[in-house]
Amino acid sequence: MLPASDTEALERTLAEEKDVAAVIMEATGASMGTIPLAPGFLAAVRRLTQAYHTLLILDEVVTGFRYSPGGVQAAAGVVPDVTILAKILAGGLRMHGEREVEETAAGFARSLDMMIAEGILKRARS
Ligand SMILES: Cc1ncc(COP(=O)(O)O)c(C=O)c1O
Repeated sequence: MLPASDTEALERTLAEEKDVAAVIMEATGASMGTIPLAPGFLAAVRRLTQAYHTLLILDEVVTGFRYSPGGVQAAAGVVPDVTILAKILAGGLRMHGEREVEETAAGFARSLDMMIAEGILKRARS
């Protein structure tokens, strides 16, 4: 866990820790934006995660389709590797379907394997 809007802490961590698979964050800042991010921080996170070959996963469970039709990422011009939408797909209500969830997870894993095979992503060192 890193402090909000601390670009230096993020860069230091990514430089020192060689096994960071992903940076995951709420797009407007933690706790549904109650700890807001400094302007430009999201873009800095995108730049650093690309530089250190780490996935950027944006949680837009609250902001997807609400903040703007394309969520925070569209408004900020930041394209993450993975977007978490979850129940915002159903307007905030839970959706269920075990088979669909398993297929989605399996599809995600296949996509990651493909991106690694094509050199788009690097596998975190183990
Ligand atoms: C920003 C954010 N991310 C993730 C979740 C988790 O969603 P769920 O309860 O559907 O797993 C919530 C829940 O409200 C949330 O507000």
